[in-house]
Amino acid sequence: MLSLNSCIEIINKEFNLLKTETNQPAELYNPIYYVLDLAGKRIRPTLTLMACHLFSEDISVAIKPAAAIEIFHNFTLVHDDMMDNAILRRNQPTIHAKWDYNVAILSGDAMMIKAYQLMCDVDQELIKPLLDIFNKTALAVCEGQQYDMNFATRNDVHLDEYIQMIALKTSVLLAASLKIGAICGYAPEQEAEKLYQFGLNLGLAFQIQDDYLDVYANQDVFGKMVGGDIAENKKTFLLIKALELAKEEHSVILQKAINNEIPDMLEKVRLVRKVYDELNIAQVTKDKITEYSNKAFEFLQSVDIEDTRKMQLLELAYGLMKRKK
Ligand code: IPE
Ligand code: IPE
Ligand code: MG
Ligand code: MG
Ligand code: MG
Repeated sequence: MLSLNSCIEIINKEFNLLKTETNQPAELYNPIYYVLDLAGKRIRPTLTLMACHLFSEDISVAIKPAAAIEIFHNFTLVHDDMMDNAILRRNQPTIHAKWDYNVAILSGDAMMIKAYQLMCDVDQELIKPLLDIFNKTALAVCEGQQYDMNFATRNDVHLDEYIQMIALKTSVLLAASLKIGAICGYAPEQEAEKLYQFGLNLGLAFQIQDDYLDVYANQDVFGKMVGGDIAENKKTFLLIKALELAKEEHSVILQKAINNEIPDMLEKVRLVRKVYDELNIAQVTKDKITEYSNKAFEFLQSVDIEDTRKMQLLELAYGLMKRKK
């Protein structure tokens, strides 16, 4: 059995090792270890280790790639927080808020390079297959992030476009985390592919849940500024659904909000949330999360491995559906 907690421990140990090896100049590395030490959920490296464990008792092969993925993920967060004007993450100030933008850019760059270094720290025959999928994924995340930015200034984003965007910015990394684990476990290609599809659907559910929490979470638990997406005119699942279902009076408020005609941010968030409440958007969102989670479970079920070996992944996926942060 490979528990969630033991996966987190393995990754944290890897990061502690890193800290002792590489730490100068401190102005570059302190922010990196600051963000890595904050209590992230470590979902992606856990997926990697668990996917490897499905096919192999020896998960040591997957540890460096798993750490690489978590550092890459944290790098995307550091840059994402600048792009989203977010000053709070994991209940602490973001790097650009605590230091400055130059620090956040350069520390982020170094994290990405560190991620590649760790991804290549595997047996020779694994380097090419791992880099093939990692390169493809990293570029897809950039594409998704650009669509996310583009959509903020557009008011006609269709649900299909939104799904495409979150698949790129979020799902592909969860999917790749699983596939990379499977490759490290020397899984047959078609089984690795089923895990990839499990991750894609899990990732869609995960990002829609993130959109939901951005409106309805308890901020102290969520650790990020609630209402941030509304403030930034992000085209989230909730907003797109609300625009779709809105009658005249709701439509007027939503249009005012996304056209920056409500200067007081707290008031803007309050008004948009009221529209969501009146349109019962929370339930519509939860139904969508369930739909994608169920699709994900189907793919996990189809992996040709005895069911008892899949229990930990299944539990993790269920936990994500009910998460509060
Ligand atoms: C945040 O990811 C970015 C999204 C894709 C929504 P997580 O919710 O996994 O963030 P941490 O690592 O646990 O903080
Ligand atoms: C995150 O989307 C996607 C990436 C960081 C690649 P969000 O912007 O919604 O993530 P959070 O909410 O800031 O964690
Ligand atoms: Mg963000
Ligand atoms: Mg963002
Ligand atoms: Mg978000």
